[in-house]
Amino acid sequence: MPDVLVIGGATEAMLARMSEKFTVHKWAEHDMDWLEENAEKITHVVTNGHDGVRPEIMAALPNLQMISCYGVGYDAIDTTEAVRRGIMVTHTPGVLNDEVATTAVMLVLACYRELLRDDAYVRSGEWEKKGSAPLTRSLENQTIGILGLGRIGQAIATKLAPWNPTTVYHSRTKKDVPYTYYDNLEAMAADSDILICITPGGAETRKIVNAEVLAALGPKGTLINVARGSVVDETALIDALQSGKLGWAGLDVFEQEPKVPQALRDLPNTVLLPHVGSATVETRTAMANLTVENLLQHLETGTVATPVPECATDR
Ligand code: NAP
Ligand code: 8YV
Repeated sequence: MPDVLVIGGATEAMLARMSEKFTVHKWAEHDMDWLEENAEKITHVVTNGHDGVRPEIMAALPNLQMISCYGVGYDAIDTTEAVRRGIMVTHTPGVLNDEVATTAVMLVLACYRELLRDDAYVRSGEWEKKGSAPLTRSLENQTIGILGLGRIGQAIATKLAPWNPTTVYHSRTKKDVPYTYYDNLEAMAADSDILICITPGGAETRKIVNAEVLAALGPKGTLINVARGSVVDETALIDALQSGKLGWAGLDVFEQEPKVPQALRDLPNTVLLPHVGSATVETRTAMANLTVENLLQHLETGTVATPVPECATDR
């Protein structure tokens, strides 16, 4: 049987299906010494968007043919090197659009309606002692700026439509959609009440939400990040939230996961999630199935269902 190296968490169901066709090695149980001894036989890797494949691991595998990523974002995998070496990389686009969009909506509502503050108000007994909680803000008729109007960005726009927003977006190219396009992110932030980040991570989007963009969003503005922590300058974000230059932030992703700066945890105007955008049983099952299907299809036919764009043959 061929050998697959599994980096990061795979579900029991994934491991069981892989084991029918592969000898499965879990990276968590090994180290670089083991890898040196066993490198030649490993032809496939399964990983996730967070762990990716460290450059030294990729370099150590001379016969690597395929990397199947359990997630749509693949910024932790060096696709330039994969293409150079003829290694196929796949990911899980589409099957998580609705779930991640729901997470973004949940963060927007939690910020606007002060969900955490009001929950604490009840639990602490303040309601009984002080009476009604302070009023919150309405989500009706807001201008929502979406940074990255791709598969998930469009699902976010659709899910927020019942709140009657003016939806605008920024990406590198204009899309065929009924929303206003901005070719300048700072200009879009200045016109938006809410800025929702849902681009890929990686060098091209690194800290594109910087101090200037946050200042343009302004004291009444809300930043939502369900993309990657690298997209937002976290130091500038903390400064903007502490100084009142920015109103609120709802964050699912951080620069150094799972480390979250104490300053962000201490702020009352943040809602923080542990990178759970797609983390429901139903959606993770769909992602897991696609991850294993790509792996098995590659083994059996040399083809895959969902290559990353860099590895697609029709590009
Ligand atoms: P997608 O369909 O490829 O959409 C990405 C969008 O970003 C496109 O509209 C693209 O448009 C835009 N974009 C790319 N580079 C850009 C840049 N430099 N500046 C501005 N816009 C840029 O991807 P998707 O399936 O929606 O997923 C998007 C990302 O969400 C993933 O890569 C991942 O990082 C993140 N994600 C997070 C979670 C979570 O759990 N929080 C879950 C799933 C995905 P142009 O090409 O025209 O620029
Ligand atoms: C996963 C994600 O949490 O798909 C992505 O890009 O960020 C999430 O769905 C991640 O891939 C880890 O499995």
